[in-house]
Amino acid sequence: MIFDSHAHYDDEAFDEDREQLLESVHASGVSHIVNVGASLEGVAATVALTQRYPFLYGAVGVHPDHASDLNEEKLEWIRELCALPKVVAVGEIGLDYYWDNSPREVQKQWFERQLELAKETGLPVIIHSREAAKDTFDMLRAVHHGETGGVIHCYSGSREMARDYLNMGYYIGVGGVVTFKNARVLKEVVEYAPLDRILTETDCPYLSPVPFRGKRNDSTRISYVLDAIAEIKNISRQEAETATWQNAMKMYGIPIPDTGENGEPKQPTSAGRL
Ligand code: NI
Repeated sequence: MIFDSHAHYDDEAFDEDREQLLESVHASGVSHIVNVGASLEGVAATVALTQRYPFLYGAVGVHPDHASDLNEEKLEWIRELCALPKVVAVGEIGLDYYWDNSPREVQKQWFERQLELAKETGLPVIIHSREAAKDTFDMLRAVHHGETGGVIHCYSGSREMARDYLNMGYYIGVGGVVTFKNARVLKEVVEYAPLDRILTETDCPYLSPVPFRGKRNDSTRISYVLDAIAEIKNISRQEAETATWQNAMKMYGIPIPDTGENGEPKQPTSAGRL
C-alpha cells in the first residue's frame, strides 16, 4: 500500500477530473493521501476534501508565498481546524527565498507562529524550504526542535543537514526528484537516511517522476519513487513500500490496522482514526 504524504488535490490542475482521479488513485493501491494546504483557500478546500474522501487526510497551514495573507484572526481559524479529527499536521509552512512572494521578515514571523501552533496542538509539521536552507534549519532548531515531529518536504539540502534534521527527529520527504538524473545529492541523502525515516510524497500536480517529468503528477506515480528508493538502498520494492507506508502512518498519528502473520497490514483503513 502506498502513502502519499504530500499532495495538492485542491489545485486547479485537477478541476476537470478530481473526483474520478481520486477514486481511481485509491483503487490502484494508494491507501492514504495527505492533502496539504498552502493558501487560506487551499486550507478550506483541504478540509472539504477530507470530509468527502475517507482515505484523504489534511494538513492546515500557510506556505511562505502566502504569509502576507495571515493575521491573528486567520491563525485562530487555522487553530480551530487543527482540532478536526482528520487534520493530521500543520503545513506546509517554511521559508521560500526563491520566489520571495512575501517579505522575508513576514515569512519568518508566520513560520515561527505556525511552528508554535504545532506545539500547542501537538500536530507534526510539514516544512517547505527553497533557497532558504540555513534560515529554515536555524528557525526549526530554535523554535520547534522536533518537538511534535514532522517532515522536511521535498528535501533538497545536503547530507550533513539531513543528518542534523534526522537527529532532531524529523523525517525526510522524498518525491519525484529522486528519479531525476541530476539528483546526485538527494540520492546520497536517501542512501544515508535510515529507511524508517523516509516518507514518500508527490507534491502533485508538481514534480512528476521520470518518465513523466513536466506532466501533471498524481499519487500513483509514487510507484516510480519507490522503485528508486529500493534501488538506492538495495532492498526489495515491497520493503520500501511497506516501510515508507508505516513511517507516514506513524508520523501523522493514524492508527495502523491489525496486521497479519507476515507483518503486512491486512486491509487499508479507509476510516483511519475517525
Ligand atoms: Ni507542496
